[in-house]
Amino acid sequence: MSVAHLIIEPTFMQTRLALFSTLPYKVADMKSDTVRFGRKELELALHEMPGLLSLREQYRGKKPLAGAQIMGSLHMTIQTGVLIETLVELGADVRWVSCNIFSTQDHAAAAVVVGPTGTPTNPRGTPVYAWKGETLAEYWWCTLQAIFWPDGSGPNLLLDDGGDATMLVHLGSEYEASGVIPSPESASSEEFSIVLQLLHDVRRERGNNVWRPLISKIRGVSEETTTGVHRLYERQTAGTLRFPAINVNDSVTKSKFDNVYGCRHSLTDALMRATDVLIAGKRCLVLGYGDVGKGSVQSLKGQCAKVYITEIDPICALQACMQGLDVVTIDDVVGDMDMFVTATGNHSVITVEHMMRMKHNAIVSNIGHFDNEIDIAGLEALQATGDVEKIEVKPQVHEWRFLRTTHGPDGKGHSIIVLAEGRLVNLGCATGHPSFVMSASFTNQVLAQLELHANAEAYGKTVTTLPKHLDEHVARLHLEKFGAKLTTLTDSQASYIGVKSEGPFKPEYYRY
Ligand code: NAD
Ligand code: ADE
Repeated sequence: MSVAHLIIEPTFMQTRLALFSTLPYKVADMKSDTVRFGRKELELALHEMPGLLSLREQYRGKKPLAGAQIMGSLHMTIQTGVLIETLVELGADVRWVSCNIFSTQDHAAAAVVVGPTGTPTNPRGTPVYAWKGETLAEYWWCTLQAIFWPDGSGPNLLLDDGGDATMLVHLGSEYEASGVIPSPESASSEEFSIVLQLLHDVRRERGNNVWRPLISKIRGVSEETTTGVHRLYERQTAGTLRFPAINVNDSVTKSKFDNVYGCRHSLTDALMRATDVLIAGKRCLVLGYGDVGKGSVQSLKGQCAKVYITEIDPICALQACMQGLDVVTIDDVVGDMDMFVTATGNHSVITVEHMMRMKHNAIVSNIGHFDNEIDIAGLEALQATGDVEKIEVKPQVHEWRFLRTTHGPDGKGHSIIVLAEGRLVNLGCATGHPSFVMSASFTNQVLAQLELHANAEAYGKTVTTLPKHLDEHVARLHLEKFGAKLTTLTDSQASYIGVKSEGPFKPEYYRY
């Protein structure tokens, strides 16, 4: 189904798409070549995802997720396709959107819609609403479509990455209860004004009792990433969390693998696909030296870049020093750096003032979850006043030319190259982390969904992590592929270090 063919009234903002459409799915391209490519890549990825493969084998012929209606909001990549089809094999009824406007791999989306047994003309897979290069209004339209099943019911479980689906159902029900939805004009960002507009439109079309019945049926959420997990703990502390949440990010086999080794793989992949610039010898500033920052530094170091970092936390800063890195402030070095990578999960880490001082053609990118680490809104404001020109090099790669600076070529304005419009560079300009790394993350996701489906009510409205024995199980499932052979503790050794010989091998406070 092509994007251009769908003009249905009344429509949501400029999307030309009915607010509550009857579309069974919406992706960019259902051509048979696209689907074939997607299905082939899903098959190859599965071989590299031993954790998900093993869950499929463990539950073959059983349907432990029967009765689960899972709405997923997570990058629609090939690896996510394997996750979705694992949930379906385990018996779940699934609907999906991407959690980022640039991260969808269109062949993955099409292949998942077709499913293992369908054809492009008779798709039998999972409803997906996602395509690469959505507008923000389209993105939120997609989220709404995935939340509502064709019979009008909603999900009983959410699988979220960054918290957008969780936020929408919470805000929707809170504004219904208060009777007041703030006006879109009052929003602090363009994106939030779209969320508010969506909620106004839903109320206009369906009335003021949509979100409260919907959220009351949601039994829990599993959250993928650091930023989404922060939001959940904030709600838990404020007492506004409406269902139990499993923090998948802080399974060791997620954050100490995906965030670190995934970014080690996918950061330079993105920089190279986007720019083809030699990284060796370049001065690169990584802002934030947490898990993603550490992986990003390794990625750049692997290409022999000269890497500097910024931090606010003395422990992370000291870790960087012990790795031989220079810990600096952006204000001190901004004019010397060739590349910038933000990895803080914080906002306004690179400001317009910083960008005005950068070298000509400095490359600016973000690998944290949202688009506000770099002040893109500030750049757009300068564009509106005619101080900056935005030139598309190719999708997700833009030259921003400052018209009033004088340190560019011939004493004229300088340019900077901004990747993925300040959104996740590894998913906007490349294809994200490789399958093997995502297998560990997504095995934790499936375990979290199984646990919520079986026992959600036992958790109350809290945020919890999976128990350590499951974390160790996820690691074990991935060792064989490396040919790794574990040493077995003797009984006497086990008792000497105070553990059971089958594990868990570390106390909760151990930090890896
Ligand atoms: P983290 O908390 O481990 O690391 C963030 C670091 O940034 C911390 O050490 C913090 O002290 C530092 N920091 C905060 N504000 C700062 C500032 N103003 N200047 C300098 N440093 C600052 O978090 P993480 O797991 O590394 O995740 C970082 C972001 O990346 C999050 O938004 C997360 O959701 C996202 N993420 C992205 C991917 C991806 O594939 N691109 C994968 C995992 C996580
Ligand atoms: N996050 C980082 N890489 C990813 C991938 N390949 N698929 C889904 N989510 C991701």
